[in-house]
Amino acid sequence: MNTFVPRVFSGMQPTGNLHLGNYLGAMVNWIRMQETHDCIYCIVDMHAITVFQEPKDLIRSTREVTAAYLACGLDPKRSIIFNQSRVAMHAELSWVFNCVARLGWMDRMTQFKEKAGKDKERASLGLYAYPSLMAADILTYKATHVPVGEDQKQHLELARDIAAKFNNDYAERIAELGFSGGFFPQPEPMIQGPATRVMSLRDGTKKMSKSDASDLSRINLTDDADSIANKLRKAKTDPEPLPSEAAGLAGRPEADNLIGIHAALSGVGKADVLAEYGGQQFSAFKRALTDLAVAKLSPITGEMQRLVADAAYIDTVLKEGGERAQAIAAPIMDDVKDIVGFLR
Ligand code: TRP
Repeated sequence: MNTFVPRVFSGMQPTGNLHLGNYLGAMVNWIRMQETHDCIYCIVDMHAITVFQEPKDLIRSTREVTAAYLACGLDPKRSIIFNQSRVAMHAELSWVFNCVARLGWMDRMTQFKEKAGKDKERASLGLYAYPSLMAADILTYKATHVPVGEDQKQHLELARDIAAKFNNDYAERIAELGFSGGFFPQPEPMIQGPATRVMSLRDGTKKMSKSDASDLSRINLTDDADSIANKLRKAKTDPEPLPSEAAGLAGRPEADNLIGIHAALSGVGKADVLAEYGGQQFSAFKRALTDLAVAKLSPITGEMQRLVADAAYIDTVLKEGGERAQAIAAPIMDDVKDIVGFLR
């Protein structure tokens, strides 16, 4: 009954540099989805300011993340690439969703609890409403597929709950206006598997993260060959040689991570990597991994540097992307207004 056009939406915050974890965990997947779907990739600057951002840093980071998107292979002709604040419908719909979502639902969000920390009273109202804005991002395009990491799964479930409650609360009006099968789709999370979960180079049990205090813990998409080599040389390991089979990685998170990175960069499975390096010492393997990482990442790094120097081009991409996004979002928001009973 529901005939929603398949559409992909995803986003990243413009805070800090993108790193290997973002690339292998998310971007590679986003790039692949361009082959099969209409995709919208957003730089979520409105989410970024839920925690104070220096305006000049926000501008620079927004352009940098855009440059990274393009350098990694997102194609602005094929996909829609833009910064969130440009399209007013995100804010408009999020207000309606703030009125649909229940406090009890928001109170269960684990990411808010983590980010707000002990002093919840001092967190911004925006940080609390973050998942409602995220639901609006997705649903203002009636997106059906949302590639995200495991950590965003709960937010996606909330988006589904909001969509369902909106459809239900306004069911009569939705039917009256001639929308059959509900107004909003149930957006589906496409969770990246653990195979592509890149962990910290300093601690194989923690996710590689831009907020880790140690820069040695991550490979940034702006790192040159020397720093990639340096970080991999210093990467934490254990004293045993590499196992010959994937089962031997159990209980060895650092070995598992490095093998996983090699496998993901070369597009094969961990077993294939171990078939080649099993029994060897880490030192030899790390040299091979460095060569591979430099070969795969240096074209991206180079392209990123070129793009970051061309702010005018980046701004044009965002402007055109914003116009295309708006063309999809505006009629949907008009329908929402009619459904809710806002005169326009
Ligand atoms: N919350 C997401 C993150 O931190 C970013 C995001 C914002 C997003 N809006 C979105 C992801 C909509 C997917 C769909 O990773």
